[in-house]
Amino acid sequence: MVEPFAAVDVIKAKRDGHVLTPAQIDWVVAAYTRGVVADEQMAALAMAILLNGMTDAEIVRWTTAMIDTGERMDFSGLPRPTVDKHSTGGVGDKITLPLVPIVAACGAAVPQLSGRGLGHTGGTLDKLESIPGWRASLSNDEMMQVLRDVGGVICAAGDGLAPADKKLYALRDVTGTVEAIPLIASSIMSKKIAEGAGGLVLDVKTGSGAFMPDPRQARLLAETMVRLGNDAGVTTRALITAMDVPLGLAIGNAVEVVESVEVLAGGGPADVVELTLVLAREMLDLAGIDVDPATVLADGRAMDAWRRMIQAQGGDPDAALPTARESETIRADVGGVVTRTDALSIGVAAWRLGAGRARKEDPVSAGAGIMMHAKPGDIVAAGDPLLTLLTDEAPRFALAHEALTGAVVVSPVGSTIDRLPLVIDRLT
Ligand code: URA
Repeated sequence: MVEPFAAVDVIKAKRDGHVLTPAQIDWVVAAYTRGVVADEQMAALAMAILLNGMTDAEIVRWTTAMIDTGERMDFSGLPRPTVDKHSTGGVGDKITLPLVPIVAACGAAVPQLSGRGLGHTGGTLDKLESIPGWRASLSNDEMMQVLRDVGGVICAAGDGLAPADKKLYALRDVTGTVEAIPLIASSIMSKKIAEGAGGLVLDVKTGSGAFMPDPRQARLLAETMVRLGNDAGVTTRALITAMDVPLGLAIGNAVEVVESVEVLAGGGPADVVELTLVLAREMLDLAGIDVDPATVLADGRAMDAWRRMIQAQGGDPDAALPTARESETIRADVGGVVTRTDALSIGVAAWRLGAGRARKEDPVSAGAGIMMHAKPGDIVAAGDPLLTLLTDEAPRFALAHEALTGAVVVSPVGSTIDRLPLVIDRLT
């Protein structure tokens, strides 16, 4: 086959600050997926995009080209409106777990194709896999069946969905080119648009534990993704939410499942409950369903949907979850008010304890993680527990302690607590 372009010319065009033509974009994305454009060439182009940016038209075309490398899912046969949510990822962000059954119990269909964790942010599938028997990989037919029966499904995205992104994301991960807004936006939205839900709510995190610690960058990313979704016919909204402090008290895999089940049982930490309900209301509004999600939490219908969803994928919702073999508690040296619990440091520490992975193929420990005992604003006495570290391998404690230096600060009572509001902004 005669190729219409040379990769080096496309790279030079972006390197020199030019706008790529639609034909160049279509070709380079497809040719990379076919293996005609080499990894080193795509790495150079990704770096040129990171440094010189893309116009809105280029981002739209790049996203479409990525979608066109794979299949599009079709939920039009379902009797319920479809709506989905995507979080850009954070520490202790288990919101998908209670959110999907809540929204399903209110009458929407939620096809949640999730990923695994990489780096200090946890992955939804890793968390659910701590439930004995639960299976992340479903065929398209199985996924439709669970959606029909329960209304919600959380499973792994199949290989057929935007294969260009799978290849490109792995390359960006090892070439310092993850943090480019055009590449992040097109990566997330190519998968979400190909997934084909009617509505989409984006939870764009900002703060130390987020991909986009700078709130202005987070807003720019949110605006770009909202535009991409709406232009592609997926009604899209975004909330910009806090990730300066971990969400809830549990950070890890099994411990986050336990906390999610507490929320479904009507308890759980206030920030997890609040963000879950805020996102649920946005999703239900997009789906045109006028039900208060708090009612299905209170009357047990959300818990019922959770149990059926876990059972439908082979999991036992009543099984005891794995626990860590070793634990160690960090206590307050002095009394006072907690003014800081840094999300990034706590996320990195949980990861070092075994909750996360360094390479895609590494296993995670189901029981590892951190339980927090105090959040900003809480009053503690000297000797009170601040964090409990959980691991299967005691030598990991030292690595976690290193990451936690300065992570939790106790100040004199009355000190200012510098903390982001949970929901910072909303974009439609
Ligand atoms: N999540 C994705 O799917 N892609 C990115 O580029 C960043 C986060």
